[in-house]
Amino acid sequence: MSLPTPAPLLVRNATLPDGRPGMQLLAEGGLIQAVAPQLPVPPGAVVLDAQGWLLSPPFVDAHFHMDSVLSHGLPRVNASGTLLEGIALWGELKPMLTEDAIAERALAYCDWAVARGLLAIRSHVDICDPRLLAVRALLDVKRRVAPYLQLQLVAFPQDGLLRSPGALANLLRALDLGVDVVGGIPHFERTMAEGAESVRVLCELAAARGLPVDMHCDESDDPLSRHVETLAFHTQRLGLQGRVTGSHLTSMHSMDNYYASKLMPLLAEAGLHVVANPLINITLQGRHDTYPRRRGMTRVPELLAAGVNVAFGHDCVLDPWYSFGSACMLEVAAMGLHVAQMTSSRGQRQCFDAITVNAARVLGLQGYGLDVGCRADFVVLQARSPEEAVRLRAQRLAVVSGGAVVARMAPATAELTLPGRPAHVDFTRQVAG
Ligand code: FE2
Repeated sequence: MSLPTPAPLLVRNATLPDGRPGMQLLAEGGLIQAVAPQLPVPPGAVVLDAQGWLLSPPFVDAHFHMDSVLSHGLPRVNASGTLLEGIALWGELKPMLTEDAIAERALAYCDWAVARGLLAIRSHVDICDPRLLAVRALLDVKRRVAPYLQLQLVAFPQDGLLRSPGALANLLRALDLGVDVVGGIPHFERTMAEGAESVRVLCELAAARGLPVDMHCDESDDPLSRHVETLAFHTQRLGLQGRVTGSHLTSMHSMDNYYASKLMPLLAEAGLHVVANPLINITLQGRHDTYPRRRGMTRVPELLAAGVNVAFGHDCVLDPWYSFGSACMLEVAAMGLHVAQMTSSRGQRQCFDAITVNAARVLGLQGYGLDVGCRADFVVLQARSPEEAVRLRAQRLAVVSGGAVVARMAPATAELTLPGRPAHVDFTRQVAG
């Protein structure tokens, strides 16, 4: 399927993320052609009046699992709520999966994503099933949504590269079929040594094939888990700077502060990207604690201060690990802000960046942003600023992909019937500072 070539699109009266109000943007030929306070209306152009609301680049999800999405309750729910029961439950579900069912659920989720202004997703796909059903299904979905949503796939050995028989061979087959990124899960291997060995093997494989790497890494509460150190080491040794991502890194929450202070500059030096998954980390980590109960999210503000690119991912929606979610990256940012206590103006903006520009850097997206020459992908949010968008999980009034309006949402409002009070309220508010 391809979208019909859209007419030129002129967006009027938009507020940009840098605070400039009353701006106009012209999209034509799939690209942003002009951004200025005043632009002529080209013949035949569609005019979209943003009514002063925020015009933002689209949301980007740096870490997702599209093969399990919307499978909640199949064949049962996760009673303990733990990561390990989730992995066991996924193992029970795998033999029952069909390619059509995986594709149907993934496409339904992509509809939600587009409606929410989420136009690029990096999804891990489990390659431990020798049938590679999920790989084939998601490669097909990737082709089908390509006209309006960029889907990137990571070959993910969920049951362990070395622990699961045949995983390496399956991973190679998945890459041969067209999967984009090399994945891993060193903390799930049998020993720390095997975990480290899996990191070496996978990084060398990525270097040989010229592919990026994105590993689930140290997703535990174990303060002695050290796989991200190994990932940074091999990244540097093989010259993979800027192409490698450490996902989750939850053990860093529990690490000794001295060791963390040594580790973070090493990650920066290796040009590692980091992805935290606030909704999942806050619900899955700390499950073995009594009180105090650890939050379990990695050290986001400290990593940013060390110069590391940190993005947020949704990770899961309605699946064996997480019974919630609706493709709302603003909900992800809001949770990240709370868990990391990033409540300052700067912290709030950094959380918005974590679901937009920083996530785009993780995926290596070309032409992302609102500058002239960028892809004509953007979203009009019912908010005056990125901070307000996060606070309100703002309505996506219009979503534009490739210069075409692909989704619209009604503004959020409410009717009041209180004497002496206005008949309508909205929840936006101009605030100082
Ligand atoms: Fe994940």
